[in-house]
Amino acid sequence: MVSHTKAPVITIDGPTASGKGTVSSLVAKQLGWAVLDSGALYRLTALVALRTGVDSTDQTALAALARQLDVHFENGVCWLEGEDVSDRLRHEQVGLLASQIAAYEPVRTALLARQRDFLQAPGLIADGRDMGTVVFPDAPLKIFLVADAHSRAQRRYKQLIEKGISANLSDLIADLQARDLRDSTRAIAPLKPADNAITLDSSCLSIEETVAQVLAHWAATKN
Ligand code: DC
Repeated sequence: MVSHTKAPVITIDGPTASGKGTVSSLVAKQLGWAVLDSGALYRLTALVALRTGVDSTDQTALAALARQLDVHFENGVCWLEGEDVSDRLRHEQVGLLASQIAAYEPVRTALLARQRDFLQAPGLIADGRDMGTVVFPDAPLKIFLVADAHSRAQRRYKQLIEKGISANLSDLIADLQARDLRDSTRAIAPLKPADNAITLDSSCLSIEETVAQVLAHWAATKN
């Protein structure tokens, strides 16, 4: 199944901490479009599994959790059953479990329709790993955002410290590399650019420059 409305989608895929989230919300703001933070859905499933003690290898039970998530997003805040869990979702333990359960086909299937439901006029910025390859294969613009592991770890470190969460740079680099490896080598929907994706390396670009490049590519699709 491909996307079911005429509203356009810009997919922004890439490895963890490549700046996708920030770039996606700024591009969405500029265009007046909605955002899908698909990683948040995997993180939410992981968070609920941790809280309810569901076995992290029980694919059927995890898929049921994914299907039943009572969640809504509003102005960058993620509400789970009425509780603001935006900060909890960023914890490394939640991210690591999200990466593990994202390799399970039943979990991915459970989240597929939920992700496509975010599509709405006038358009959607879809941020993730498989937005351009699996979830929105007919998107008119697909960006694959990369940055070297050291730049990404430094950004993640800064984010965590700003939120008052303690962190260690070399542990973060090791975690990022482990997660990249798992995300890009899994059998189902691995992290990889779609054939028609444009790869942007943001290692040496500011957020504003990266946003400007995405918007320029979007403008170019209409010429
Ligand atoms: O983008 P993020 O770090 O919040 O994503 C958390 C995990 O979820 C990541 O390790 C891989 C997984 N994920 C995925 O498999 N597919 C997506 N479209 C988004 C995230």
